[in-house]
Amino acid sequence: MPTLRTTSMGAALLAGVLFAAAAGAATLKIACSGIGQERQLCREAAEAWAARSGHGVEIVTPPNDASERLALYQQLLAAGSDRIDVLQVDVVWPGLLAAHLLDLKPYTRGAEAQHFAAFVANNTDRGRLVAMPWFANAGLLFYRQDLLRKYEQPVPTTWQALAVTARRVQDGERAAGNERMWGYVWQGRAYEGLSCNALEWVASHGGGAIVGADGRVGIRNPRAALALQTAAAWVGTISPTAVLNYAEEESRGVFQAGHAVFMRNWPYAWSLAQGEDSVIRGKVGVAMLPAGPAGSPAATLGGESLAVSRYSKHPAAAAELVLHMTSAAVQKDRALRGSFNPTLPALYHDPQVLQANPFMGELQDTFAGAVARPATVTGRRYNQVSHLFWNAAHDVLSGRAQADEALARLEATLRRLGRGGRWD
Ligand code: GLC
Repeated sequence: MPTLRTTSMGAALLAGVLFAAAAGAATLKIACSGIGQERQLCREAAEAWAARSGHGVEIVTPPNDASERLALYQQLLAAGSDRIDVLQVDVVWPGLLAAHLLDLKPYTRGAEAQHFAAFVANNTDRGRLVAMPWFANAGLLFYRQDLLRKYEQPVPTTWQALAVTARRVQDGERAAGNERMWGYVWQGRAYEGLSCNALEWVASHGGGAIVGADGRVGIRNPRAALALQTAAAWVGTISPTAVLNYAEEESRGVFQAGHAVFMRNWPYAWSLAQGEDSVIRGKVGVAMLPAGPAGSPAATLGGESLAVSRYSKHPAAAAELVLHMTSAAVQKDRALRGSFNPTLPALYHDPQVLQANPFMGELQDTFAGAVARPATVTGRRYNQVSHLFWNAAHDVLSGRAQADEALARLEATLRRLGRGGRWD
């Protein structure tokens, strides 16, 4: 097996053998990310498969930060490494990683037909099904019901109202002795998660989608600039300055400790907030993210799939593991215990799923209308595009650039990269 070039990335891979393979069987290495309950649920489902199939499974833990995870995968895959057999693949990665992933069609026995067609299309690269959908994500607004009630505030539907309410509750709670109270936490680190947050701000201000479906770049516009400026004004006022280095789990840490009124996060945060040991259990509501003055609410579409590396020595067994992990039974369990949104439409009619996760039914439109990042149109260049976008946003948030300058530079660079709309 090729050695890793950077030890820091290599060190990020922690592995432990869970279920030894029976003689003649394979031991499959599956990369499960560790956000919230992800690793535990992933391990349990993989172990169940191992016990049934007689194969072994080993859980590999890549970095939680989506951008670091991608860098690690790209490094391993470029080296043709068999260090990971089954990979957790972000909804924006199939185009980036397709060349290194196995076509699963010969193994699925048509199982993909049960999943949302848009997700399957997203995971199909030049006719090859390179990943099976596992769970869907969309950005949501989590809020403290008890605090809104105490201060007699409605759930905000505009960013402006959110800022006013956040400030009022933050000030009131601090005056009452909770010095650590903040108004709003979100993901402001320079990584893929910031691209998700910033796309929501821009799209909800009517500022477009970074790169349009036709490949054209129109991000330099006054609405997008207003969106970024609006978010920059939160930093140090209703959001801690440290938000500039927050990913999902850092923001959840603050919210779940009871130190924030509002949080932007993915659905997984729901079941943790409602957990038995949670200090905010029973005090949390979930709503659509707010809208800007000239826009309507926008949630970024996220989600994860499972893929098999082309360099796996056990492709058939690895594909079986993927089919098990993405099956209705496993997705239902993950929805009930981890509030992971299924990729199987049938499960959205399941009363148990809806009872455990009322927002899945109530916010159906949020999920159906979620805004996609321009991964399909920019194909192999998506990560460069996103990198430029999150850096531009980060520069504005941290006060290093004005929004219109940052967007002008971003647009010029994206236009060069996209050669007039011909990205591939
Ligand atoms: C979640 C989403 C993914 C997104 C990432 C950003 O993992 O599923 O689509 O890219 O968050 O941090």
